[in-house]
Amino acid sequence: MKQKPFGLIAAIILAVGVSGGAFAADAPAKAEKKAEPTHAERMERGKQIASAVCLACHGLDGYSPISANPNIAGMPPDYIAKQLELYKTGKRVNPIMQGMAANLSPEDMKALGTYYFAQRGKSQAVARDKKLAERGQLIYRMGIAETKVPACASCHGATGAGIPSQYPKLAGQWPEYTLHELRAYASGERAHPMMNTIAKRMKAEDLVAVSEYIAGMRTR
Ligand code: HEC
Ligand code: HEC
Repeated sequence: MKQKPFGLIAAIILAVGVSGGAFAADAPAKAEKKAEPTHAERMERGKQIASAVCLACHGLDGYSPISANPNIAGMPPDYIAKQLELYKTGKRVNPIMQGMAANLSPEDMKALGTYYFAQRGKSQAVARDKKLAERGQLIYRMGIAETKVPACASCHGATGAGIPSQYPKLAGQWPEYTLHELRAYASGERAHPMMNTIAKRMKAEDLVAVSEYIAGMRTR
């Protein structure tokens, strides 16, 4: 969103530079740089790739009908782009997604992030076990004092909406996926200093409880 005005101005400068004929020759160096795509252009490009490739597993609206594939709707654009880059470079390991990301350019990744962030739909995940979810809620809101686990809410937000460009959305995620990722952080298989420390300090059953609670959270 923030880049929109800049993108527009850059596009105008470029357009003037190109259409200016003789003037273009001594146009400032700026005009030669490729203009940053506008928000609308990214939405369009993101939708194209999503409907050709990602749709099968994440849905066109970013909500997956099955728990094996995470919901990605409403995830911060930078977060989505970063994860795609991590898959592409093999730093985040998953055979399916490494294949999917292999041919995406950095600009494709930004476009996909922009597109999926803007999707509004409904998660089909639910919390089934009330007792587990209650324990999970406590951890989510308060953390675990004895082992110095901070409240998840302090970074991922009280409603689990996340904070764009910093913290991913968690609300309504499939519990199987959340648990899988928390275990991957705990073992170090998925590398991220903050989340590695946090997950390592949690008992196996607390990872299950917090995943259950997150499944039932809704942001809108
Ligand atoms: C064949 C199914 C499949 C297809 C097609 C697919 N994905 Fe995925 N995606 C997955 C699975 C499974 C995971 C979980 C991988 C893991 O545990 O790291 C995932 C994870 C992700 C994540 C990380 C989510 C998070 O919360 O960290 C992003 C982002 C993502 N996919 C985006 C995409 C995009 C964009 C496309 C299209 C270019 C795509 N995926 C195509 C199955 C798929
Ligand atoms: C200090 C800030 C912070 C706190 C506190 C925090 N997280 Fe995170 N969390 C992050 C960041 C940053 C990421 C993105 C890491 C990455 O890129 O792999 C993340 C990622 C995650 C993911 C992966 C999301 C996905 O879509 O793949 C899960 C699940 C998660 N956190 C759960 C939790 C839980 C549960 C708690 C509380 C026990 C918690 N986090 C506390 C910062 C935090």
